[in-house]
Amino acid sequence: MAESITIKKPFDSHLHVRQGAMLRAVTPISAAKFAGALIMPNTEPPIETVEQAAAYKKEVLAAVPGEITFEPLMSLYLTKNLKPSEIEKGFAGENGMKVFAVKSYPYGATTNSQWGYRSILEAQDVLKKMEEIGMPLLLHGEVHLNDHDEEEDPYDAERMFIADVLPRLLETYPKLKVSLEHMSSAEAIDFMEKNGEAGKLVTTVTPHHLMYDRRHAFSGGYRALLHCKPLIKTAHDRERLRYMVKKGLPFVSAGTDSAPHPEAKKFSSCCAFGVFNAPVALEMYAQVFDEIGALDKLEAFLSLNGPQFFGVEPSTETITLLKKDWQVTEPVVTEEDIKVWSVGDAKHGLGNEMLHWQVQQ
Ligand code: NCD
Ligand code: ZN
Repeated sequence: MAESITIKKPFDSHLHVRQGAMLRAVTPISAAKFAGALIMPNTEPPIETVEQAAAYKKEVLAAVPGEITFEPLMSLYLTKNLKPSEIEKGFAGENGMKVFAVKSYPYGATTNSQWGYRSILEAQDVLKKMEEIGMPLLLHGEVHLNDHDEEEDPYDAERMFIADVLPRLLETYPKLKVSLEHMSSAEAIDFMEKNGEAGKLVTTVTPHHLMYDRRHAFSGGYRALLHCKPLIKTAHDRERLRYMVKKGLPFVSAGTDSAPHPEAKKFSSCCAFGVFNAPVALEMYAQVFDEIGALDKLEAFLSLNGPQFFGVEPSTETITLLKKDWQVTEPVVTEEDIKVWSVGDAKHGLGNEMLHWQVQQ
């Protein structure tokens, strides 16, 4: 049994760092363990111009401690205001400001998704342009509202997207580069195992969907720290996800979806969508890969497949993980004295949760 593993420094294909004091508190945590990340654009206001993306990139970089190299890849939010010309400008990297992806959120489905289209299929001009120039589309793949604007069952949201929307999208735009984010259901896994292709149709997996199933989410009451979109699913879904990453497929990569929320929003009348996992994400991935006997597949999943999709080089630095128990006991505290609790935390987690892998200091 391996007691340590050294890999190229990972890349996080899906990261929320927010803005202001929250950004300054959480960015250094990801930057310490990841060489770079695709930064999500669901800020307030959303990132919908190259100029905003450039300012946001500057804010992220300013929060990275001086001795660390961390490459934020910026994205645009697919709002109704997003123009094909802006996408073209961003993809060309004019004036040194490259935009690496466009993110789609279904209206009303998750945190700050109020600016999204009800269905991605409505965004025809934008999608045509993206297909033409090769700009990747990152999908929050859930159906939230039906044709009469009634809410669908959130446990069915991903499988409805996979059964209906995704096939139509791929059929209409056959050359479009697509990433199905944070896969959570057996149906999504079936679809990706059949159709996934490196550089064309890829997918990301979070540590929390690999670690937990809904027995954990409902253990001793509903667990606010596990509340996220897509919802944590059944034991069967989680097993399928674990079995998929074990295969070492080149189109599957780590996207933590670390999504911090202030304590007051997380523990108020239940509860903001988003799992804050940056303090433990890498360690949880290592733990799961160890449990399923796939540590030899960890480096490609964490450090190679994501950069390959976005056309950037993997890190030249390395990081070492050790098999050693530890526990998160303290929240992250912003300079405004706001507490942000990590998943796995001893107090608000599932009890005495232990992590079995640790980053070597
Ligand atoms: C994310 C957030 O808080 O920004 N929340 C989540 O539950 N995953 C948004 C998202 O990726 O859906
Ligand atoms: Zn997200």
